[in-house]
Amino acid sequence: MFDQTIINKFQSIKTPFYYYDVNVLKQTLDAVKKESDKYNFIVHYALKANANNELLNIIKSYHIGADCVSGNEVKKAVECQFDSQHIVFAGVGKSDEEINYALDQNIFCFNCESLQEIEIINELATAKNKTASIALRINPNVNANTHKYITTGLEENKFGINLWELETVVNKIATCANIKLIGLHFHIGSQITDLSAFKSLCLKVNEIQSWFVSHKIHIENINVGGGLGVDYHNPDENLIADFAAYFKLFNDFLELRPKQKVHFELGRAIIAQCGTLISKVLYIKNGVNTNFAILDAGMTELMRPALYQAYHKIENISASDSKKQTTNNLKYDVVGPICESSDCFGKAVNLPETKRGDLIALRTAGAYGEVMSSAYNLRDRVKAVYSDKI
Ligand code: LLP
Repeated sequence: MFDQTIINKFQSIKTPFYYYDVNVLKQTLDAVKKESDKYNFIVHYALKANANNELLNIIKSYHIGADCVSGNEVKKAVECQFDSQHIVFAGVGKSDEEINYALDQNIFCFNCESLQEIEIINELATAKNKTASIALRINPNVNANTHKYITTGLEENKFGINLWELETVVNKIATCANIKLIGLHFHIGSQITDLSAFKSLCLKVNEIQSWFVSHKIHIENINVGGGLGVDYHNPDENLIADFAAYFKLFNDFLELRPKQKVHFELGRAIIAQCGTLISKVLYIKNGVNTNFAILDAGMTELMRPALYQAYHKIENISASDSKKQTTNNLKYDVVGPICESSDCFGKAVNLPETKRGDLIALRTAGAYGEVMSSAYNLRDRVKAVYSDKI
């Protein structure tokens, strides 16, 4: 991934920093567009994965919509000139202020997660003399077989309206003069690598659609959310997710009614592989059973390993090529400087002999990396560097 020219350039940049390879992002977006256009599917980018202006501007140029989960994300999408008619707004806890802002922007759709939320949106829309278009986020009770913190489509999760509440919700909507039901929304979880979970989702959506047909309610839009996973273990071999198989599966298994449109909300699969966290080794310390490589980046810059025990491939990009090839690598616990034991990027990681000052790359960090960074321990906020501006 990194040739010597770029590694030399990294030497003069203060670490830690996120490095975004704009060409990888463009290649990924080309694939998303090519494969989704085959079926006229509509793709929204989930801003929660990474909301850097430079990257959003590229994504927007592919005529992709925006999936937002806060008023500020809606604002960011508007500022980056995503077409407001391609903005969807989800989230279990939208505040009145956020709803009002989104109403003022005439966004395409609110993905509603509870009966009370629908009542409040109706109230606020009435006060503005507007009609709010909504989709019902339905909890399909489908297991995504992913980490429990990023599973969202089970009854035990806080998200969405449960199937047994549908009748009440639909009756309520009929009494809300300023609400227009335009769609159904689903999202079962994130980092889903077993595509059969999406097949189960399709079959559940078909069942739910039949319920709406039997109640003579026409639904224009089906939004199946996001969740397509990426290969954290072999980023170079699988730089681009298998969008062909992913979109084909929905085309094969979703039973669509005439003129229905299908929407997706992809975050990770679009943005993960273009981002790398670049860090420097501060110290090497010998432990009882292991060596520690102590980096100048920690859980403040990349929280996923501490929070979800997530794996990110760790590479010493300063080691000479011949050293990188050696089979008798050493094992290091690669840790950050933060005063928490969970501040660890990997245990017993195989690396060539590593020394103070070496550059370490934490791969596949474009999604939920920088955007979840913090200033804990009063750390400086992490910076971003772009391949076309370096
Ligand atoms: N739509 C909804 C309603 C969502 O909740 C999410 C992600 C997405 C779309 C985008 O999902 P994606 O395509 O990126 O999988 N911080 C965690 C991931 C949390 C995902 C939250 N929802 C992580 O670092 O793995």
